[in-house]
Amino acid sequence: MKVTIVGAGNVGASCAEYIAIKQIASEVVLLDIKEGYAEGKALDLYQTATTLGFNTKLVGVTNDYTATANSDVVVITSGVPRKPGMTREELIGINAGIVQTVATNLLEHSPDTIIIVVSNPMDTMTYLALKATGLPKNRIIGMGGALDSSRFKTYLSLALQKPSNDIQGMVIGGHGDTTMIPLTRLASYNGSPVSQFLSSAELEKVASDTMVGGATLTKLLGTSAWYAPGASVSYLVASILHDQKRMIPCSVFLEGEYGESDICIGVPCIIGKKGIASVVDVKLNAVEQEKFSKSATAVRTMNEALKDVL
Ligand code: 2OP
Repeated sequence: MKVTIVGAGNVGASCAEYIAIKQIASEVVLLDIKEGYAEGKALDLYQTATTLGFNTKLVGVTNDYTATANSDVVVITSGVPRKPGMTREELIGINAGIVQTVATNLLEHSPDTIIIVVSNPMDTMTYLALKATGLPKNRIIGMGGALDSSRFKTYLSLALQKPSNDIQGMVIGGHGDTTMIPLTRLASYNGSPVSQFLSSAELEKVASDTMVGGATLTKLLGTSAWYAPGASVSYLVASILHDQKRMIPCSVFLEGEYGESDICIGVPCIIGKKGIASVVDVKLNAVEQEKFSKSATAVRTMNEALKDVL
């Protein structure tokens, strides 16, 4: 099984690393536009195979889409970060052009592939990928909810002082500091609601730390995070390639689910060999539903910046 990752930066390289080390795919192709960069990353990583004991083949290429042919899954991480003085619309315009071109090139060589979108603003880029390619909605998946949920569970585990593997929880809504919705009411410590162990103030702190999870790391690192984003992609890829049907919050095209249509936004999904097998209808209470509607409005406003592209 073959996976292509476009963009050999920190996130792309981390995805490749986890997919290889966990032997999720038999081949990973890393593609970048910077001459020799993906080749270097792939070769360096491949040289860990003997010491770490994995058999996944790693190939790096400079903008050569023929090497990506017949990929089962492709991951788009490419795009530019916002620079000082740049408006959000300008950023969206640039990244939209990149995502559109990359998606078209990938599909030319892997017409049946499933696309995972990582580029930001993620919900808007997922929507763009769907509209620009015309692919059925099950084949375009935005990664944000998987990452935000992993941050949520980590902050819960830290607050509870319990092992993170014993924590369950989900984040839905947009992948943005103000648009994501950590579902604290439904989070559990091995099946017991976390509200039995944490005060409302502690739960609110967990939720707010989760919401600025990406920004906190950007401040600490001077650039955006890569380990948790890379791991979240590999988790999604495993569920697709091995048809695990795991329930993972992802940004997907909605047609009435959760009261929204014509938008890509994070909701719990069953992820299997066809991509999105289904959207899970988790019963939200009135407060959560209201937050979800507001989140959708914010994502929709962001999507308006695509009007010159689509
Ligand atoms: C993150 O949340 C930047 O979307 C990336 O870390």
